[in-house]
Amino acid sequence: MLNLNGRRMRKTVEPETGWSILDIALKHEVDWGFSCMRGTCSRCRCQVTEGMELLNAPTEEELDALEPEELEQGFRLGCQAKVKQAGTVTVTHKPYF
Ligand code: FES
Repeated sequence: MLNLNGRRMRKTVEPETGWSILDIALKHEVDWGFSCMRGTCSRCRCQVTEGMELLNAPTEEELDALEPEELEQGFRLGCQAKVKQAGTVTVTHKPYF
């Protein structure tokens, strides 16, 4: 199960392997800010509080965009973080502004 916490909406949906957190949020109409869809604007930034091991490792774009401390605290870019494996994942959209 994938718990998506958008700015004004929370939804629990089925995670789809190979899909990004942003793609799944958009599919289920959870308000999740985004702009570039390719890891440069950071508007889709989010924090994973559960199930990080079920997602892909941070991409080059995330390593460029996020500080090491943010990565340690579970921050990811929603357009880059993809579901690798089924299980429980909890993610909260936390853009900088
Ligand atoms: S939508 Fe721009 S970084 Fe994800």
